Amino acid sequence: MSQDKVLSVNNLTINFKTDNGILKAVRDISFDLIRGETLCIVGESGSGKSVTSKAIMGILANNAIIENGNIIYRGENLLEISEEEFYKIRGHKIGMIFQDPLSSLNPIVRIGKQITEAMLINSDKLKIMYNDLISDDLIRYKNTIAKRNIEIANEKKKLEAFIAEVKAKENVSAQERAADKEAIKAKKLAFKEFEKKTREKYEKKAKELKAVLEETQRQAKQQVKEYKEKVAAEHKARLAELEKKLAASSESEKTKIKEEIENEKLQYTNKLKLTKAEAQKRALAIMREVGIPDPERRFKQYPFEFSGGMRQRIVIAIALTASPEILICDEPTTALDVTIQAQILELINRIKEERNLSCIFITHDLGVVANMADRVAVMYAGKIVEYGTAEEIFYDPKHPYTWALLSSIPDVDSKEKLEAIPGTPPNMIYPPKGDAFAARSRYAMNIDYREEPPMFKVSDTHYAATWLLDPHAPKVEMPKIVSERIRISLEEDQKNE
Ligand SMILES: Nc1ncnc2c1ncn2[C@@H]1O[C@H](COP(=O)(O)OP(=O)(O)OP(=O)(O)O)[C@@H](O)[C@H]1O
Ligand SMILES: [Mg+2]
Repeated sequence: MSQDKVLSVNNLTINFKTDNGILKAVRDISFDLIRGETLCIVGESGSGKSVTSKAIMGILANNAIIENGNIIYRGENLLEISEEEFYKIRGHKIGMIFQDPLSSLNPIVRIGKQITEAMLINSDKLKIMYNDLISDDLIRYKNTIAKRNIEIANEKKKLEAFIAEVKAKENVSAQERAADKEAIKAKKLAFKEFEKKTREKYEKKAKELKAVLEETQRQAKQQVKEYKEKVAAEHKARLAELEKKLAASSESEKTKIKEEIENEKLQYTNKLKLTKAEAQKRALAIMREVGIPDPERRFKQYPFEFSGGMRQRIVIAIALTASPEILICDEPTTALDVTIQAQILELINRIKEERNLSCIFITHDLGVVANMADRVAVMYAGKIVEYGTAEEIFYDPKHPYTWALLSSIPDVDSKEKLEAIPGTPPNMIYPPKGDAFAARSRYAMNIDYREEPPMFKVSDTHYAATWLLDPHAPKVEMPKIVSERIRISLEEDQKNE
């Protein structure tokens, strides 16, 4: 299989400004999404899963600071693109399904309208044509401006964070306070200088791109005008022809010709506009695709008339109307009961296959991961601590945190949770030194409290950040519960072959 990357996250680091200090939510994570695959991001509450997906969707809270890294989609860094282009990507090329379907639906609008609304926003086909024609040049221009603004904004955020940190200090001597004041003054000056330099750096390029854009806009306008005139002329000619036919026809032929005239008028409208009727037809087809029985009746109902599972199907339908290339699902089934959960997972798997979607699937449940994943990223305290194919993570796990997660999956037969993970996740304003999981791990060594483990390579597709993989580390065995389960399921696999 080819390893065609649809999306690539590199060294992403995201902090949040909070009243208590800087919270380190995502710390230097990297992963690739391969076309047609599902990547599961798994980890406990607070490990940074949703922040990661929100960064991809460009919907991070205002107090977020993107400290480092990039998210590459179609050669562009999503963290640096203009608002305009983001609107095109968000909800179009990249769709997202959230945990609670109710919060993504409007309670007082009929389901059918909510599905067609998304399509009808861009119903003017001439406008779509014009936008397509100028799109590349517009994006190039806007991105340059956006890059400039983001560079300046990021520097400003860093300055503000620095000032906040200095001001939050307690028990400072007068001497220190004076020094801090000087430091802030110097940073402010440096920022002003940076802003000026950055503006200058982009000015020439922006001017050139703007001139190119204006020329393209002029040509596009002309092209759309010509198209519109051509379509109108054809329509007029066709109508005249039919009218003539009608006048010369016998009574019995008249109904048929009148129908043809109506049809010609409809076709003409369809060339200029996506009609409500067309949108409705498409909506019903998508409702069928996501398994809503009797869609014609359901179309006119309100969200409250739907069960939780059906509502989630509607949310998926809405995401699909835009034909996305990537689908991000953030815990889409946690609010549902187990049987419905299984049906929704099956649905997501099916549409993923049929539409060749690439999925990022977020969950805290390794049982769900087993049903969905081609590849798995295990997150702990804002870091990816293990990354591999589903097979590698389930049959050859290396990180003690992955072991702990695997030990806590309820048994399929007894349904009993085997072992809860002891302790609580760390406070991310003061993330622990070294391996953040050390304090909760019975495999922790001295070095785990001092130094952060690098990503050790296990295979070309499998990496884990644990000192246990260091050549000097003592050899330890994974917990018996985990190795026993692996042994049993391998035996079962062999039997089934
Ligand atoms: N706007 C914000 N301001 C401050 N802290 C935030 C903000 N958003 C998220 N965080 C913090 O970032 C960390 C990661 O949060 P995130 O929502 O990504 O967790 P998660 O892995 O999705 O957890 P869950 O399984 O509970 O959904 C948490 O410590 C959270 O409190
Ligand atoms: Mg979350």
